[in-house]
Amino acid sequence: MTTRPAPTQVHLETFGCQMNEYDSELVRSLMKQDGFVFTDERERADVILMNTCAIRENAHNKVYKHLSELKKLKQQRPLVVGVLGCMAQNLKEELTDIQPLVDVLAGPDAYRQLPMLIRNAMLSQEEGLYQKGLAVDLSEYETYHDVVPDRTDGVNAWIAVMRGCDNFCSFCVVPYTRGRERSRDPEGIVQEAYRIAEQGFKQITLLGQNVNSYRFGDWDFARLITAVADVPGIQRVRFTSPHPKDFPLPLLEAVVAHPNICKQIHLPLQSGSDRILGLMNRTYTNKEYRSLVERIRAMRSDIVLSTDIIGGFCGESYADFAETYRLVEEIRFHSAFIFKYSERKHTIAARKFPDDVSEGVKTERVTRLFDLQRNISYERNREYLKTIIPVLVEGDAKRSAAQGMGKSDGNITVIWDKRTISSRPGDMVSLAIYDASSTTLYAEGPLMK
Ligand code: 5AD
Ligand code: SF4
Repeated sequence: MTTRPAPTQVHLETFGCQMNEYDSELVRSLMKQDGFVFTDERERADVILMNTCAIRENAHNKVYKHLSELKKLKQQRPLVVGVLGCMAQNLKEELTDIQPLVDVLAGPDAYRQLPMLIRNAMLSQEEGLYQKGLAVDLSEYETYHDVVPDRTDGVNAWIAVMRGCDNFCSFCVVPYTRGRERSRDPEGIVQEAYRIAEQGFKQITLLGQNVNSYRFGDWDFARLITAVADVPGIQRVRFTSPHPKDFPLPLLEAVVAHPNICKQIHLPLQSGSDRILGLMNRTYTNKEYRSLVERIRAMRSDIVLSTDIIGGFCGESYADFAETYRLVEEIRFHSAFIFKYSERKHTIAARKFPDDVSEGVKTERVTRLFDLQRNISYERNREYLKTIIPVLVEGDAKRSAAQGMGKSDGNITVIWDKRTISSRPGDMVSLAIYDASSTTLYAEGPLMK
C-alpha cells in the first residue's frame, strides 16, 4: 500500500498595504486549490513565502532582514523560499543574484503560476539542482476576477476593483511594480459583494492603487460604489486609495447620500508646494487641492479626512516645506501618514532629479510635520468627547485582550474595557466617548445598542 505524502505546508508573511493583504488572500486561494495547506508556524513550513512591498526604503529593508533570518532555517532543512509582490517585480536581478536563498520570484500579476513554480522548486531541490523559478511579467489584463480570495477576517472584506497605476507620480515605484491600470468587471464585483454579505462580513473596502480611476465600459467609480453600497447586509463601505484628480461631483454625492458609505476620505496630498507638486507629477495645485477639500466639507462638514505627505522630496526648499506645513495647519486633517522621501529604483525622480535633501533635514521636516499633525489629531479626536458614536466591533485591542477594539465611521480606532461593554466582532454598537488621544478614542459602557 502506498501512503500519500503529507501535503506541503506553506507559511505566508505579508508586508505593506491592504492591496498586499488582499493579494495574499488570492495567493492562499490559488494554492489551496492546488492542494497546498497553510501554517502559521514558520518552523513547520516546507515553503515560506513573503508577499513584499517596495514603496519605501524601510519596507524594503524589512524584507531583507526577514530574508537573512530565513538563511539559518534553510541551512537546517529543505525549504523553498519565495518572494512575491512588488519587490519580486522590482528587484528581480538583485534578488536572484544576491540572494541565493530565494527559489521563487512571482510578481503581482503572476500568482496563477505560483503553485507550478513552487512544485518545480521542490522537485529541483530534491534532485539537488536548486533552479530558480521566475514569473515577473506584468499583464495588461490580469484582475484575478475569477479567484475568490481566501478571507480570514470575519468583519472586513476587501475587494480589489482595479489594479495598477498609470499616473507615474515621479517618486512612486507602483506603476513599475504593478503595471498598467485595469479595472475589473462590475458584475463580478457586485456578485462578490453579495457573497461577502451572505458570509456575514459587515464592511467592504474597495481597493485599487488608484481606486477612483475605476472605469469599465460606462461604469465609473461613483456608479460602482453605489451598487456595492446597495447590497443588503453591508453596513459599511470604504475605498482606498484615491487620487485627488478623480473626485467628480457624482462620486462626492454618492459618498454623502449613502448612509453606509463611510464619511471618510483619504486624500493623499504629498506636498503643499506647487513647484514640488509639479516635480512630483501630481497634476493638481495647492489651490485645487484646497478647493476640493472645501467642496467636500461644504457637502458634509463632519467628513473625516486623512492624507499622505512626503517630506524632503528632491529639490524641496525650506519655503516649499513651509507651504506644506501651512496647508496642514489650515486643513486640519484628522490624521496623516508622513514619510521621508526615499529614492526608488526606476522611478522618474530617480532618473531625473538628485535626491538632494540631506537625511538630517528630511528627519527634521518630517518630525515637525508629525508633531504638528499629532496636535491636530489630538484636538480633532477630542471633538468626540461626550458624544455617542456608532462603532463596528472588530475584536480585541492589540495591546490587551481585556480591551475591545472597533472603528468609528471615520475609521478612528475606538477602545473599551470588555468588563463594561460586552460585544462580539461584527456588532455595530453605539458607544459613549469619554477620552481621546491623538490616535484613539476611549469608550465607556453601558452599551447602548
Ligand atoms: N518615498 C516616500 N514616500 C513615498 N510614497 C510613495 N512613494 C514614496 C517614496 N519614494 C508614499 C506616498 C504615497 C504612500 C502610499 O506612500 O505618500 O501616497
Ligand atoms: Fe504611486 Fe501616484 Fe499611482 Fe499613487 S497615484 S500608486 S502615488 S504613481
